[in-house]
Amino acid sequence: MSLFGRSLFSTELLSNEDLEFLFSTTRLFKSEFEKRKRIDHLVEGPDLHQKCVSLAFFEPSTRTRLSFQMAALRLGMKTTSLDNVAVSSISKGETLSDTVRNLAAMKPDILAVRSGENSDLEETLLDLSIPVINAGSGTSEHPTQALLDAFTIQEFRGKVQGERILIIGDVLHSRVANSNLILLSKLGAEVAYCAPEEFNPHRENWKATKKFSDIKDAMKWATVCICLRIQKERHQLHHSIGLSMAEYRERFRIGTAQLKDFAADGILLHPGPVIRGIEISSAALQDSRCKVLDQVTNGVFMRASLLSGILGLEVKKQ
Ligand code: CP
Repeated sequence: MSLFGRSLFSTELLSNEDLEFLFSTTRLFKSEFEKRKRIDHLVEGPDLHQKCVSLAFFEPSTRTRLSFQMAALRLGMKTTSLDNVAVSSISKGETLSDTVRNLAAMKPDILAVRSGENSDLEETLLDLSIPVINAGSGTSEHPTQALLDAFTIQEFRGKVQGERILIIGDVLHSRVANSNLILLSKLGAEVAYCAPEEFNPHRENWKATKKFSDIKDAMKWATVCICLRIQKERHQLHHSIGLSMAEYRERFRIGTAQLKDFAADGILLHPGPVIRGIEISSAALQDSRCKVLDQVTNGVFMRASLLSGILGLEVKKQ
């Protein structure tokens, strides 16, 4: 089954065929954009210029929201965006579920939604009659981030299969880590994590995952290192962090000393936003192995591929 007309809630739901389409189309869009600064000539579909993606962001975002917008614009489509809850009717008491029902009633072609933990909203999204993309949901999943991470790994390491991928930091609260574990394992990578006890993941699928207590051993093992943001905004929902920022930095921050233990051809990733000096030092962000901004570039083309697939656009492979 192709991506046409489908929603994307989890990386679990992506087939090999979907992944082949998304990776090859992303590669094509990126290389064509580098040559001609446009990709719209590569896609065709009925009334493409009338297609509209509705963005509903109930949590803050820079990369995901703007790269969905950029992707749609590059394809020749339009977007609408609800990104400031304070000036929406949520501030007058409307629920998030009713808000997305109303956005869907405006008949966009695709709805992309970012939200915190909200089971009513999740049920409502499953019931909508238009395709929905999960643009980050609570501590659950962030499938488009995992897709662009996997693409970036393939781009710089040449493959995902057999890569040793280390996820560092607040794994417990990270939707990115959850989507990455599913997707990168499916693609044949070995995933491990290194986290303070307080941030050990609880989900069943993490139980068999390799864990490092010491960052030095972990860095020596890895070919790809993904640092995570400490998700302070979620800590009071569950429990507070049991160690100080200074302790965290001492034990888990990636700086030049930690990069000395890392493969010379390894790559360092972070989904963003990076809290400089806490998760990665400013010096490490300048290291040639750091591909954080390449992830952001790839995010536009991966999201353009996903929109193309869901809308059933014809992609001219040239
Ligand atoms: N990676 C990511 O989701 O970043 P934003 O929160 O800025 O969208």
